[in-house]
Amino acid sequence: MAKKTIRFRIFENPDSASAQVAAEMALLIRERATLGRNAVIGFSTGKTPLPLFEELIYLYREEGLSFRNVISFNLDEYLGLKTDHPANIRNFMQRNLFDHIDIPQGNIHFLRGELSSGKIKAHCVAYEKEITDAGGIDFQILGIGRNGHIGFNEPGTPMNSRTSRVILGDTTREDAVPDFGAIENVPIHAVTMGCGTILEARKIILMAWGLKKSRVVRRAIIGPVTPKVTASYLKTHPAAQVFLDQAAASVLAQD
Ligand code: F6R
Repeated sequence: MAKKTIRFRIFENPDSASAQVAAEMALLIRERATLGRNAVIGFSTGKTPLPLFEELIYLYREEGLSFRNVISFNLDEYLGLKTDHPANIRNFMQRNLFDHIDIPQGNIHFLRGELSSGKIKAHCVAYEKEITDAGGIDFQILGIGRNGHIGFNEPGTPMNSRTSRVILGDTTREDAVPDFGAIENVPIHAVTMGCGTILEARKIILMAWGLKKSRVVRRAIIGPVTPKVTASYLKTHPAAQVFLDQAAASVLAQD
């Protein structure tokens, strides 16, 4: 049964919120390392997780946090980009996190947007199997699009959707223009973990910063569970939380 609201926490700024997310992730990674087990982490990309990535790199460099027992799965990938395109999710993650920590390259999983369209379906099924074979996602990081998407699950996506090829919405493509130079260069298609796939993670933290996210955050947290805002599906999850800075939380209390 869906809860009335998703549990949320408001922080002074993105850095303090991200430090808390990183601390919770570090605790999981260390606990698992002590038991000789892996920690399976689902990562999102975009601007939102950058302070988290910086904090994780800091914990690796300065606090002795090892990522050798981390298995990662990224949420999504643009379709049709060359593998060396700087806006590829894979290159973004290597540049901003994985190149700076000791996660074994073989533990890193990405959706492959360079595959021909005939191969995508089987690849999505295989990706889901890799997640299951790893024991499922322990800790999923999410951002939220201005249209309420999680991953690239655009408005209208059903709650039980699985990893698949999707069409990107207009706001998603507009928001990606800085990474591609012009709207015509932004891919129209992507592959994304489905809403159902995401909701199977044992722990989920969605992060949102800034005024431009405040209205959609309010719809996700206190509005109805609806395909119009796929982040609202998190209400059906027993352990999903939303971490906000003050600007993103600023309209939460308004009628
Ligand atoms: C990207 C992803 C997207 C972003 C969302 C917010 O991997 O899953 O759902 O989290 O579009 O993007 P930013 O953080 O750039 O505002």
